[in-house]
Amino acid sequence: MADALRIGIAGLGTVGASVVRMLGDKGAELTRQCGREIAPVAVSARDRARDRGIDLGNTQWFDDPVELASSAEIDVYVELIGGEDGPAFESVRAALEAGRHVVTANKALLSKRGVELAAIAERNGVLLNYEAAVAGGIPVIKTMREALAGNQVTRVFGILNGTCNYILTRMEAEGLSFEECLREAQRLGYAEADPTFDIEGHDTAHKLSILTSLAFGCRISADDIYLEGISNISQADIRAAGELGYRIKLLGVAQKSENGIEQRVHPTMVPTSSVIAQVHGVTNAVAIETDMLGELLLSGPGAGGNATASAVIGDLADIAKSRPGFQHGPVFGRPAKELAPYRRAAMRSHAGGYFIRLTVQDRLGVFAAIARRMADNAISLESIVQHGDVTQAEQKTVILVTHETTEAAVRKAVDGITKDGHLVDKPQVIRIERAA
Ligand code: HSE
Repeated sequence: MADALRIGIAGLGTVGASVVRMLGDKGAELTRQCGREIAPVAVSARDRARDRGIDLGNTQWFDDPVELASSAEIDVYVELIGGEDGPAFESVRAALEAGRHVVTANKALLSKRGVELAAIAERNGVLLNYEAAVAGGIPVIKTMREALAGNQVTRVFGILNGTCNYILTRMEAEGLSFEECLREAQRLGYAEADPTFDIEGHDTAHKLSILTSLAFGCRISADDIYLEGISNISQADIRAAGELGYRIKLLGVAQKSENGIEQRVHPTMVPTSSVIAQVHGVTNAVAIETDMLGELLLSGPGAGGNATASAVIGDLADIAKSRPGFQHGPVFGRPAKELAPYRRAAMRSHAGGYFIRLTVQDRLGVFAAIARRMADNAISLESIVQHGDVTQAEQKTVILVTHETTEAAVRKAVDGITKDGHLVDKPQVIRIERAA
């Protein structure tokens, strides 16, 4: 049998501890599958004394992850520290420069410096695997990089943040407030250390930027993502969406248009009958639309120790099975130096349907004024509904659903309605996404 694959793990939080535990529990089966043992031989973490409920008896301890990363005692460096710079970046770069394979779950790092790191990996003939960085346990990187060879991707979109999906699901199912649901997500350990990363869409954006590069063969460009979080989604939006046959999800969407590539993260209305609308709670889902396949949807656990450890271990098994000179292709699907520059399509040119919720004063002519602003901007309406407000007799809620139009037209129309002076609250605009 071949020599054991010796791994060094930096970061022993929930995921790191799960990886060590699973490698122990599943050791015999993994050895059978890979033809060699995957052996954690060294670790690095901030607190040596902490009881993590795992056996670190046979592992060497490194205080400095950079030293671990380039140690001659390991074949693979597993980075589970997190963060886009600092020790995570320094250690991954050191490992790749030293000719070690790397497995990482670090979406922020890849989103910011992935192309640079891929170039080093490819130059040195080592693997940089990152399945756990996007959608936790869902094997979306492997699917896009390997299984969809030859397919031309036209759009990739998904629920990439478990915390947001959990919040929206509970708000809809139980009528709870946004704050109550967020607290519960934090208690259950789904949320990032700083939950604004989840609820304002940054975590989704990091993951989306990686999928965009794989989908369209372009450089990663997280700074070019249109971003809106879920903190201003109210019970009124959720109820109105339901009445009109939609459900609200925070989606990351990347698609090619004649103007370039659109990358956007925002609350989105999807038809209640679509498959992605059935994805509830902390579960993630990624839809990949291609010329050969139509729409493929992968769904599964997107966060949590064991789910993320499953993706890390899958990456390790690939390395254990690979032979020198026979790897599985470039890090982002095509050689890093051939990735095209990212060409951003302006958000104003985005075309699609829109949901618009307006709270207006109940007086003569308001409805007509709204309709006029829509017509003036060539926006055709699919439906228009008006509700009385039981608590505010002098107010009405007007909900419009448009046919396909542009972001620019909707913004102009809504600005016009605001200037008309009939609104008593901020207008709410939510984009509608086509989904199978
Ligand atoms: N905070 C993330 C989520 C964890 O809620 O999905 C995985 O990136």
